[in-house]
Amino acid sequence: MENMELPPRPKLFDFHGVSMTHYFTDNWENIQNFQARPDDILIATYPKAGTTWVSYILDLLYFGQTAPERQTSLPIYERVPFLESDFHILPPGTELADKLSTSPRLIKTHLPVQLVPKSFWEQNCRVVYVARNAKDNAVSYFHFDRMNQADPEPGDWNNFLQRFMDGKMVFGPWYDHVTGWWERKQTHSKLHYVFYEDMVEDTGRELDRLCSFLGLSPSAEEKESVRGGVQFDIMKKNSMANYSTVPIMDFKISPFMRKGKVGDWKNHFTVAQSEQFDEDYRKKMKNTTVQFRTVV
Ligand code: A3P
Repeated sequence: MENMELPPRPKLFDFHGVSMTHYFTDNWENIQNFQARPDDILIATYPKAGTTWVSYILDLLYFGQTAPERQTSLPIYERVPFLESDFHILPPGTELADKLSTSPRLIKTHLPVQLVPKSFWEQNCRVVYVARNAKDNAVSYFHFDRMNQADPEPGDWNNFLQRFMDGKMVFGPWYDHVTGWWERKQTHSKLHYVFYEDMVEDTGRELDRLCSFLGLSPSAEEKESVRGGVQFDIMKKNSMANYSTVPIMDFKISPFMRKGKVGDWKNHFTVAQSEQFDEDYRKKMKNTTVQFRTVV
């Protein structure tokens, strides 16, 4: 794998009003026709909001006790298929999901709410949506795009930030994503909306909330073992969770488990960038009730 020739960076194009790359549209027919099952759990996020963290938590809650061998043999992206992905180095996400023999199936998506296959709504599936404040989300996405050959070239930070504000990102504007899913919560009662900042502040409390949403009642010991296993430093070292087995990511440029902090944006935004961002943010977010914290 190490000497594998890397494909060129993909181009962004408009797809049903959302910026996308071919990696997420090549398999579109199968994605739209995907047959969800009533007990499937959809983990939905904007990229870099804490998808892997929550995926790992859910995997441990459901299978940590019953299938401990998973913990040493199956990387997270095979346990929790990425529905719309078709990276050619792995089978497409729909195929991986169809092949899962576990119940429930945990399925990851970055799709904006309006593009999610309708069977998830028809089957009334549980959805866990993770959202992260825009500034830290943008910083994390920038470093990810530097090291991830499967996304367009990020350019320098200033250009990237402008692109983020313009919504010209893979999976579209952050603003539409977090507000679209927030609105869906009003009509789909089985949607649990989690904030990355809350998870950093008190992982144990958020675990309790997750368990209550999922109808799980792990023992105090099990809960403690999950909480311990999903700490940033532990996950960073865990080759089944840290994406170190993926050949299209160059960890020498930036690791997947980078900092895991709230407020790293302060190390990236200039005062002028921050002010411009805040002003634009107020306009874009004026019609929503969702509130984010940029510090904890
Ligand atoms: P940073 O780049 O800010 O460090 P995703 O899984 O959606 O791609 O999100 C990746 C981001 O979540 C990265 O943010 C990563 O470090 C952070 N992350 C992953 N596991 C974490 C954990 N256990 N605790 C805190 N942050 C975590």
